[in-house]
Amino acid sequence: MNIGIDKIGFFAPHLYVETKDLAVKRGVEPEKFTIGIGQEKMAVAPTSQDAVTLAANAALSILTEEDKQAIDYVIFATESGVDHSKAASTYIHNLLGLPSYTRAVEMKQACYSATAGLQAARGHIALNPDSKVLVLASDISRYGLNTAGEITQGAGAVAFVVAKEPKILSIEPTSVYKTEEAMDFWRPLYSETAFVQGKFSVDQYINFFLDLLERYNEKTNRSLKDFDALLFHLPYTKMGLKALRKSVEAAELEDQERLLNGFDISKYYNAIVGNIYTGSLYLSLVSLLENSQTLEAGDRIGLFSYGSGSVGEFFTGVLVPGYEQYLNTDHHTAMLKNRTALTVEEYEQIFEEKLPVGEKDYTVDTTKDPAPFVFTGVTEHMRQYKRQA
Ligand code: CAA
Repeated sequence: MNIGIDKIGFFAPHLYVETKDLAVKRGVEPEKFTIGIGQEKMAVAPTSQDAVTLAANAALSILTEEDKQAIDYVIFATESGVDHSKAASTYIHNLLGLPSYTRAVEMKQACYSATAGLQAARGHIALNPDSKVLVLASDISRYGLNTAGEITQGAGAVAFVVAKEPKILSIEPTSVYKTEEAMDFWRPLYSETAFVQGKFSVDQYINFFLDLLERYNEKTNRSLKDFDALLFHLPYTKMGLKALRKSVEAAELEDQERLLNGFDISKYYNAIVGNIYTGSLYLSLVSLLENSQTLEAGDRIGLFSYGSGSVGEFFTGVLVPGYEQYLNTDHHTAMLKNRTALTVEEYEQIFEEKLPVGEKDYTVDTTKDPAPFVFTGVTEHMRQYKRQA
């Protein structure tokens, strides 16, 4: 039985800032951000969006009533959780009207956990072939104004359905994974923004990738020739490019060209949305599938998932015949095109807007947010959400 990604979609909030404007304000050359980091636009979440609404909005765009009735497991991957105890998936379960007899949990391991979700989903489908699993990867990436990490911020969510005989990407059985405790990036419970040892995190990421790729190739007797594309967790697009370049240094020219060309297409959405932590690898997958003119059914795609702290995994999927009919390209193109550009001052103001901490009641202004699902505030310490469109 083949198991894999049956549907996939993403959501980005309606606000963004141009990274070249940010560069000017921060006193650096725009090319450092657009070429050196590889980011063009950075999505900005208004206070009416949080990890829950971003994910609900992503899921809404892909689920039919039939899918909803078949889903009996919701896995919510995030490092921007809204509660220490209650899983964000329980809100989603209600907002999307999913069946009662569903398992709903939240998973955390920095940017890696959606891959843990995908693998757990594969196991669930192997045991329950007629069910479907909804995996959500949703985050708001925050390092702080005037920090080195600021340019690698972003906000958004990816939603995908895992099922038997999937319509898009069949996940192959072999995967390799690794854990190594490291303080390259973390966010203590008391902090709104991430702590990071930037250069160390870059080295840690590249070392994980090279090690796992070698292990995968040893285990499967495959080589770069067997991959039609390689996808990466992309905290910023240059990060994946640096890792890819290292891995193809000694490869033949045709393999280098194929993989570098594929990477160019796979980074397109990430470069204009920014870092969405758990969803970044899967946003890159959507970017490749929706924008490539050369991919074909049967092509093998390698995926590198990395979460600081650190856990990494390398696995592969094979494109299913007819996959292109199940993509949501027009919806995504329109969503990205209809966004509103902020000035750097407006972005800074939104960034610094603080929701009351510890207050039992407050209301959030949702009138300017065109998203279907919004966060409306807190009543008696309980978060409130509504569908407004
Ligand atoms: N034109 C073109 N390129 C330029 C340039 C110019 N005018 N000026 C500088 N550059 C280039 C530099 O040469 C450099 O290129 P290389 O990486 O190829 O060497 C690049 O721009 C970045 O310059 P710096 O290294 O000087 O950048 P920095 O010190 O300001 O910080 C960073 C970069 C470490 C990535 C920082 O943004 C950061 O800490 N980000 C957060 C951490 C992160 O994303 N780590 C990634 C791995 S961890 C992970 O993946 C998990 C996760 O999601 C967080």
